[in-house]
Amino acid sequence: MRVAIPAETEANETRVAATPDSIKKLIALGATVVVQSGAGVSSGITDTDYVAAGATIAGTAEEALADADLVLKVRRPAATELASYKRGATVIAIMDPYGHEDAVAAMSQAGVNAYAMEFMPRITRAQVMDVLSSQANLAGYRAVIDGAAEYGRALPMMMTAAGTVPAARIFIMGVGVAGLQAIATARRLGAIVTATDVRPATKEQVESLGAKFVAVEDDEFKQAETAGGYAKEMSAEYKAKQAALVAAHIAKQDIVITTALIPGRPAPKLISADMVHSMRAGSVIIDLAVERGGNCELAAPGETVITDNGVRIVGHLNVPGRLAATASSLYARNLLAFVETLVDKETKTFAPKWDDELVKATLLTRDGAVVHPNFLPK
Ligand code: NAI
Repeated sequence: MRVAIPAETEANETRVAATPDSIKKLIALGATVVVQSGAGVSSGITDTDYVAAGATIAGTAEEALADADLVLKVRRPAATELASYKRGATVIAIMDPYGHEDAVAAMSQAGVNAYAMEFMPRITRAQVMDVLSSQANLAGYRAVIDGAAEYGRALPMMMTAAGTVPAARIFIMGVGVAGLQAIATARRLGAIVTATDVRPATKEQVESLGAKFVAVEDDEFKQAETAGGYAKEMSAEYKAKQAALVAAHIAKQDIVITTALIPGRPAPKLISADMVHSMRAGSVIIDLAVERGGNCELAAPGETVITDNGVRIVGHLNVPGRLAATASSLYARNLLAFVETLVDKETKTFAPKWDDELVKATLLTRDGAVVHPNFLPK
């Protein structure tokens, strides 16, 4: 079983799919591992580190991919890369397939079996493979660090001989994995933290972290969670009530961090231009949903917008990649845990069980065909 770790090709992608630690464990599973030279450098891992773990180094992507049975990546392979894969090879990555059906078709045409890590079911057995959680947790942390760096004042209250500095007010919108970590991080830095979500279960979670919950808690709110634990799209009436509450609250905040997402839908718009204009000069908005359309009307992907009233709206792309070393080490462990379920421990060969629920949930293409129910050709 030959495993390849190519360097990521997408701009902004600083992460890598394997660490020396995960490579040692892949080798223990019976693999030989080849890493493209420089693949780990943005995550602080040198070729020498990989060699010390037992990998060999290939000079180019073509060399790394030639004859690979299994390719581990952060992002889906680009069409140009696919030419170097052998037919029958397997690739496991964050595939981002919605809206990119042509890329899914290209992988099937190349005869590549492709697994989407982000489709891993959120069941106990697969928690260790949950890339959405491992990466969102880091994004939530980094959002607070980025917010603190953009903000021209201190976060904790400080009583000094020269006078008292008030604590900053930080408002977290959306309390999933990223939002919870943002609350915890902002509290550790000494800010006064409030948070909102449409799922009622989050109220207790917010309060247990020492923050205050802010939301319209009507009958609709009490039923806003799906069986899968995700948010539902709210009615226009609820959105209007919530917007009025949030508008009054936001005007008093120093930093707002938005993380709100609804699976399979564009990010809900939670901060209007008027709300931004109600904020004080020097306030900061960090929009973690910017890649899915943004929670703030004025956010722009990959840019920091400074409004005429002096509010900075930060729309970083790939926020987990801003903590590349940590993000890569957690992602590599997620991948390794999944690969362990796909390898026959006795024969030490790659032998997926096609009826396993993890395989069925994540497999996009197999033997030259698209097989995932959400992407079957119409
Ligand atoms: P997500 O990334 O899909 O969304 C982030 C947050 O935005 C959610 O809390 C959602 O309720 C909120 N949101 C959506 N629309 C909103 C609006 N209009 N206003 C305010 N907030 C809004 O969520 P994530 O982080 O993936 O978590 C979803 C659920 O999955 C949570 O209940 C989480 O605890 C659960 N989970 C379960 C895991 C497991 O293995 N069992 C692992 C990770 C998360």
